[in-house]
Amino acid sequence: MIMTIDPRNINHVAKDNFSSYAKGDNVIKAGIELFGHGIFVANGEQWRYQRKAASIVFNTVNFRDNFTQVFVKEINILSKYVFDEKAGTGEAIDFQGFISNFTLESFVKIGFGKNLNILTSKDKVPFVVSFEHCQDVMFNRLLDPFTNIRDKINSILHPNELSHKDHVKTINDFVYSLINERREQLKQGYEFQDMLSRFMKACNEDGKALNDKELRDIVLNFVIAGRDTTAQTISWLLYYALSYPEVEAKLVEEVDKYITEEVENDAPKLYETIKKMIYAHAVLHETLRLDPIVGNNARTAIKDDILPDGTQVRKGDMVSWNPYSMARSEKIWGPDAKEFKPERWILPNGELARESSAKWPAFHLGPRVCLGKHLAILEALVGLSFLLKRYKFRLVPGQNITHAAALTHPIKDGLHVFIEKRQP
Ligand code: HEM
Repeated sequence: MIMTIDPRNINHVAKDNFSSYAKGDNVIKAGIELFGHGIFVANGEQWRYQRKAASIVFNTVNFRDNFTQVFVKEINILSKYVFDEKAGTGEAIDFQGFISNFTLESFVKIGFGKNLNILTSKDKVPFVVSFEHCQDVMFNRLLDPFTNIRDKINSILHPNELSHKDHVKTINDFVYSLINERREQLKQGYEFQDMLSRFMKACNEDGKALNDKELRDIVLNFVIAGRDTTAQTISWLLYYALSYPEVEAKLVEEVDKYITEEVENDAPKLYETIKKMIYAHAVLHETLRLDPIVGNNARTAIKDDILPDGTQVRKGDMVSWNPYSMARSEKIWGPDAKEFKPERWILPNGELARESSAKWPAFHLGPRVCLGKHLAILEALVGLSFLLKRYKFRLVPGQNITHAAALTHPIKDGLHVFIEKRQP
């Protein structure tokens, strides 16, 4: 494995010489039961048709009118049933845990047109337990070649516990039941806005209508792509805002200026308004610079190659880059690289600075750039704006804020906060 933090090399692998690199077999095998042949682990034509079909779903009208509405509805439920109840009680909550439920609920709704109702449920929903288990297994397989053997031994020693196979079945049963239900409803002439219904009208790489397995893989990949990434971004952002009172004050000032009651209740207007909130965008960019949720990434060479810095790459080698280390490099970001400074993202004329994505690959770059970038930013800023307008959060003192080793980049033990209602 060749490891680099040189933006020239990253630009070369992910963009300029895209056709010489692919997702490696290690990633594909580790995630096969969960990701199937979905976009995340697909290469070649299988990737191309999914990318094309998904780009059609991710259009401005959908964002403005449909997706924004889902985020507003779910954040209002989270406010009413969790935050309003905890506010002023002196009881701390794990913000990251609740926000993960918010993003999962939103993406299952956008993806499958269904509510899991996890925001109001007191118990853990089986789909969620199994979903989290499968993500952990995938990550463990990438690090530890004995994961499968350990899993088999575990199922012999503890026959009453759910095995990995059981968890995969829980996910599949849930998803296939939604697919069957939707096929029936579409036959009866009902109309839906969710991704599943739209993909039911799309074709695969052979020009044929998608079968149930293809639909499952495609839509589930989007739920996986969106849930943890966005929830962890919101959590790190709140952590930074609460750690730097001047940042929190500026954010709240911007929220008060833009998020009026009228805007809160009008999804298309809210969508347009969020775009004007330059400071909130700058804080989000700076959060994703210092704590990129995909903190490490890699591709496998399918041909011999030479990187721009002269490093020789042989077919089968992995080239890996690390946005987390890049953020801390003074060579890349200057002497204040390690500091949290949203201002670095604001130009003297007040506009948002656009950095090259090879220097800031938080959302990747080139043909496989994150498809959900704008959706994630929209959800994060809608969620945060609504919460900062209503509540004052305070960090529980003495907690240990550090990263967990995982597929993405969560706060290891969660983000524990006290909540007070803000006076209007
Ligand atoms: C802050 C939140 C997010 C971050 C930081 C993020 C980051 C990334 C990164 C780094 C990649 C490249 C992964 C790779 O090379 O394997 C990626 C790919 C992708 N992301 Fe995101 N993502 C976020 C949210 C979302 C959301 C909300 C969605 C959609 C629901 C989404 C959909 C995708 C898809 C479909 C791909 C695969 C694109 C392809 O291979 O062509 N992401 N994302």
